[in-house]
Amino acid sequence: MAFVFLVVQDFTAETENPYRSLITFIALPAVIGLGVILFLLAIRIQVVSARKRGHKVRFTLRVEPTDPQYMRSLWLFLSLSVVGVAVVGFIGFKAYEATDSTSFCGDACHTPMEPEAVALQESAHARVKCVECHIGQGTEAYLQAKVNGMKQLWGVLMDSYDRPVQTPIEMRSAAQVCEECHWRDNLWGTKLRTTTYYSLDDASSPWTVNFLFDLGGAGSASDAPSGVHWHTSGGTVVEYIATDHELQDIPWVRVIDEDGIERIYTTPGDYIPRLNDPDTEIRRFDCLDCHNRPAHPLEPAARSINNALADGRIPDVLPEIKDIAMQVLLDSYEDRDAAHQGIPDGLDDFYEAEYPDATDRYPAEIEQAARVLIDIYDVNFFPEMKTDYRVRQYNIGHLSWEGCFRCHDGEKADQDGEVISNECNLCHLIIGQGLGTNGVLLDLEGSGLEFEHPYDVLKWRERSCASCHAELDGM
Ligand code: HEC
Ligand code: HEC
Ligand code: HEC
Ligand code: HEC
Ligand code: HEC
Ligand code: HEC
Repeated sequence: MAFVFLVVQDFTAETENPYRSLITFIALPAVIGLGVILFLLAIRIQVVSARKRGHKVRFTLRVEPTDPQYMRSLWLFLSLSVVGVAVVGFIGFKAYEATDSTSFCGDACHTPMEPEAVALQESAHARVKCVECHIGQGTEAYLQAKVNGMKQLWGVLMDSYDRPVQTPIEMRSAAQVCEECHWRDNLWGTKLRTTTYYSLDDASSPWTVNFLFDLGGAGSASDAPSGVHWHTSGGTVVEYIATDHELQDIPWVRVIDEDGIERIYTTPGDYIPRLNDPDTEIRRFDCLDCHNRPAHPLEPAARSINNALADGRIPDVLPEIKDIAMQVLLDSYEDRDAAHQGIPDGLDDFYEAEYPDATDRYPAEIEQAARVLIDIYDVNFFPEMKTDYRVRQYNIGHLSWEGCFRCHDGEKADQDGEVISNECNLCHLIIGQGLGTNGVLLDLEGSGLEFEHPYDVLKWRERSCASCHAELDGM
């Protein structure tokens, strides 16, 4: 009766609730199952003890068509069995559905999966279910996922899971995951992007860059693949060996073009690839090697703050706002409540101590800045899981992590001495840059401007961007 009641509830409820589904389709059937096992056990115990006492116990399977009472019981038994089988089948199906839902993966397992579940809602893939990317099709993948799930459930019960959860994780190939929806041989075309950066100086001076990205792709039948998606378009295959688990150190790259001609690029130095060693894994360079966070983006603090300043959510009239915003966001907080308290307190204390006149003049602006920073914190920082961008490297770009420069370092060379290019306009053209929020010096020739590092930082070309910027980003 309890089960029937809960099933009706589940059907009529308007919202999906992982706990209700867990009780209705997993906990309660488990109790019923336990009842059946107890029932069978009881029969066995009775039979064994009766035999011990010398009674004769016999089971006969004989149909008695002439005995009307026997026939009535038989029909009752058979029809109840049909109902029973239907109920079990239905429970199985609902349990399958319930454990495949995003709310089950993200909410029922609340603390450990919170960063991934929250970030998913901030991504372009908010409506794609966890299982569509993380679990393959078919019974084997399903069972394997459930066995893993049991292990993880044990980890949660014993409070022994990793904080943060390890990354990268085993994924199926991009062909199986991403190409369910995206077309490899797409012509991606050219994309204009304008980004405004704010300095750490007193005025938080803005500096704007206009980029033109050639996302490339396979193009029309007559064009060879080119641009950013050259690596994964047409018949070209790019492979690499990484010497670390995070796939950041890449000393060996092989390109096999459509005609089967190979070129191998290696980092100068003493790395000798052992291609026949079973421990050496040659990986195909594919969508997920660049797009490693399509579903769980965690933004670097500087980027979130720049964007919020650029679209006016954080008022730029506040003195030193970029600098102090970075500090309060990156302060270490015990938990979310502490952050909700610490962020506004941090701003208030700073302005009261350093700029008392700003406290008087802009009380609403300071409050607004605190509110926006809390919003930024809530979708990018997860103190209970020790998870934020600082433990989740992102492979697109090259500012805070090596990203594209893992290979495009201008050093890896093939046998002819050709290097994998580090030219600034290989991947993007800068068509405008300068102080202010619009970008100036528009370049209409199409050949691109030479990058000017914002705010006169010297020697920026002599090192990789990340060698300075990782630290600026608090890593
Ligand atoms: C669009 C595909 C996609 C969807 C949908 C998706 N993920 Fe992921 N997930 C990924 C990729 C890609 C990675 C990173 C793999 C890597 O770095 O090797 C990942 C990584 C993870 C990790 C490892 C830790 C980390 O952050 O890198 C966890 C845990 C995770 N996802 C859980 C979830 C949960 C829970 C959901 C649903 C709420 C979900 N994922 C939905 C693609 C997806
Ligand atoms: C269920 C279908 C589906 C799957 C599976 C899927 N995507 Fe998407 N993806 C979409 C749709 C639809 C959009 C466009 C969303 C929009 O414009 O708001 C998109 C947008 C994107 C974008 C552009 C937006 C952004 O985040 O920058 C990237 C990149 C992307 N997907 C990469 C991937 C990768 C990598 C995978 C494999 C892990 C993947 N997608 C799997 C449907 C999917
Ligand atoms: C060499 C790295 C790299 C690989 C490999 C790669 N991409 Fe991309 N992709 C990029 C970059 C860079 C962008 C532009 C990102 C941005 O605007 O921030 C992009 C953009 C996209 C977009 C958004 C396009 C738009 O119009 O905004 C989609 C969708 C996408 N990629 C899907 C894929 C799929 C599917 C694969 C595998 C077949 C793939 N990418 C392989 C680097 C890569
Ligand atoms: C695993 C190593 C590797 C990584 C990582 C990598 N690339 Fe490449 N890329 C190559 C190789 C190898 C070539 C071919 C070099 C050549 O032809 O000189 C290439 C060529 C290119 C080209 C020129 C394509 C053409 O038109 O011929 C572009 C553009 C490019 N990469 C963009 C990117 C971007 C953007 C990223 C980061 C999101 C990236 N690459 C990351 C290995 C890599
Ligand atoms: C191998 C391809 C590649 C090369 C070479 C390259 N870039 Fe980039 N760059 C990218 C990609 C991809 C992004 C976009 C990152 C993103 O979408 O977040 C980017 C982003 C940037 C940004 C914006 C950073 C941000 O996070 O807002 C600047 C500035 C920049 N590049 C300058 C340069 C300069 C200067 C050089 C030459 C030293 C250079 N790039 C060489 C691929 C490249
Ligand atoms: C020698 C160290 C160093 C190197 C190398 C370096 N930068 Fe910077 N960069 C800085 C410093 C310091 C700042 C902050 C200045 C400020 O905010 O007042 C900065 C700021 C920036 C900003 C504005 C960032 C923001 O969020 O406001 C951009 C964009 C930038 N750098 C791009 C690059 C690119 C692209 C490269 C690599 C081609 C690079 N930088 C290499 C030191 C460096």
